[in-house]
Amino acid sequence: MLLELRKLSVSYGKAVALENVSLQIAAGEFVAVLGPNGAGKSTLLRAISRSQTSTGMLEFRGESLHGHPAHAVVGKGICHCPEGRRLFPELTVLKNLMLGAYLRRDATAVAADLSVVYSLFPILEERGPQIVSTLSGGQQQMVAIGRALMGKPSLLLLDEPSVGIAHRLKIEIFDAIKRIQQGGTAILMAEQDAQSALRIADRVYVLENGSVARSGSSDELRDDDHIRRIYLGI
Ligand SMILES: Nc1ncnc2c1ncn2[C@@H]1O[C@H](COP(=O)(O)OP(=O)(O)O)[C@@H](O)[C@H]1O
Ligand SMILES: [Mg+2]
Repeated sequence: MLLELRKLSVSYGKAVALENVSLQIAAGEFVAVLGPNGAGKSTLLRAISRSQTSTGMLEFRGESLHGHPAHAVVGKGICHCPEGRRLFPELTVLKNLMLGAYLRRDATAVAADLSVVYSLFPILEERGPQIVSTLSGGQQQMVAIGRALMGKPSLLLLDEPSVGIAHRLKIEIFDAIKRIQQGGTAILMAEQDAQSALRIADRVYVLENGSVARSGSSDELRDDDHIRRIYLGI
C-alpha cells in the first residue's frame, strides 16, 4: 500500500473532527472523499500531510508519518493542494509554481516538471509573469495544483479543486487531474461535486460526521441508494 490509515482520529480541543477513519490508497490509484461541509474532509487531508496532528495508524510506504513535520512529508512525496488554494497572491504565476519545488535541488528535473505543468495547463505558461491575484478563480486553482505537482508527488492531495469555479474551467481541471493520475501519480481528492468525482475516481469514501459512512468503487457507489439520494439528488 502507498498510504494506509487505520483508526485515524483528530480532535480540535474537545471537538472530535475525525473518528477511527480507516482508508487505503494503492500506488497510482485515484480515490475521492465525498461528504457534506464539516464532514472532516479537509481535516483528513491535513492529517495525512501532517499539517494537523492525529492519532491512530498513518503509514506511507509502510512507514509511520507520525513525528514527521509537514515539510519532511513533502520530501517523501506527499504534496497537498489545500482548501482555499493558499497561493501568494502578490507573486507571479511562475514564482508560485517554483515555490512548490523549494525542497528540490535538481534543476533539470524541476524544469522538466514545469513543462509537465504547462502541458496540463497551457494558460499558465502564457500567464507566467503575471501576478496571481489578477487571475480568475479557475486559473488560480490551476496554479495551486501546478505548485503541488512541482513537489514531484507520488501522492497528490487535492482539497475541493472545483469549488467556486466556472463550469468550463471545472471540466478542464477535472480532466487535467485525471491526466495527472494517468501519468502515475496517486490522487486523494476531497470533493463536494459527487457526480464529477464518481466520474473520474477509481474508488470513493464517503465521510459523514468524521467517520466513513460508505466506501467502494465509483461504479458501486453510483448505484448506492443513499449516495443517489443524498449526493446525486436522484
Ligand atoms: N482549525 C479548526 N479548529 C476547530 N475546529 C475545526 C477546525 N477545522 C475544522 N474544524 C471543525 O472540524 C469539523 C470538520 O471540518 P473540516 O475538516 O473542515 O470538514 P470539511 O472539509 O469536510 O468541510 C467541522 O466541525 C469544523 O467546524
Ligand atoms: Mg473542507
